[in-house]
Amino acid sequence: MLTAEQIQANWEEFCNNIKLWVVGDRQKELLKFYKKYEDRIMMMPASHKKEYHNAFPGGYVDHVNRVVKCALNINDVWVEMGVDTTTYTLEELVFSAINHDLGKMGSEEQESYIPQTDKWRREKLGEDYMFNKAVEFASVPDRGLFMLQSHGIQYSFNEMVAIQTHDGLYDEANKKYLFSYMPEQKPRTSLPFILHQADLMAARIEFEREWLPKLNNPVTTQGNGHILPKEVKKSTKDKALSQLKNENLKNIFDKL
Ligand SMILES: [Fe+2]
Repeated sequence: MLTAEQIQANWEEFCNNIKLWVVGDRQKELLKFYKKYEDRIMMMPASHKKEYHNAFPGGYVDHVNRVVKCALNINDVWVEMGVDTTTYTLEELVFSAINHDLGKMGSEEQESYIPQTDKWRREKLGEDYMFNKAVEFASVPDRGLFMLQSHGIQYSFNEMVAIQTHDGLYDEANKKYLFSYMPEQKPRTSLPFILHQADLMAARIEFEREWLPKLNNPVTTQGNGHILPKEVKKSTKDKALSQLKNENLKNIFDKL
């Protein structure tokens, strides 16, 4: 669980990454897009199931910022090892990292992840969120790319392939891009592999932070489905709520 202060600091880091790495009109368009959906995206979890990663308010931006950092660091290793740096740019790398999971936001009108309404699942399984069935199905990459293009934000061919394949071979749909033995059908840049490694590293670290203390110390979580003890959760939440200025955010946060 993040405090409201951390959520707001993460949001500033998120916007600063756009200002730092995305240039020209595209920077303006991207900032305009994220300003429009600020309240939703700032508070979004990275997933709706506790068993996945960062399934708490602000978890999405926390994850994306980590992917940006991992991507830049992993890129340094690839550069040191001799990757062909003429095949992609750092702007493409960071733009792809910033937007790789954008499809998780849902549609323009509807959020993908909404507060869990089933009391039993909240209390016994510790599920704070559920999937919003009002949102028509699309894969996360497809929806993210759709949201960008429907708001007039252009992306390069490299960025399209990187966002599309960021789950690597964990998603069977990516076999057409990543599983070919034919040289002419392989990606002509290492960008998709760098982004995939960054996403994998970030999600793994988030898993370790969330779960290893609980798994290694099961006594404290026994009987409550591996959720934080209520009193800890409540005091963190109260503190966070008192720091929030925006009434809409306060209401969303208070329901969780
Ligand atoms: Fe991700």
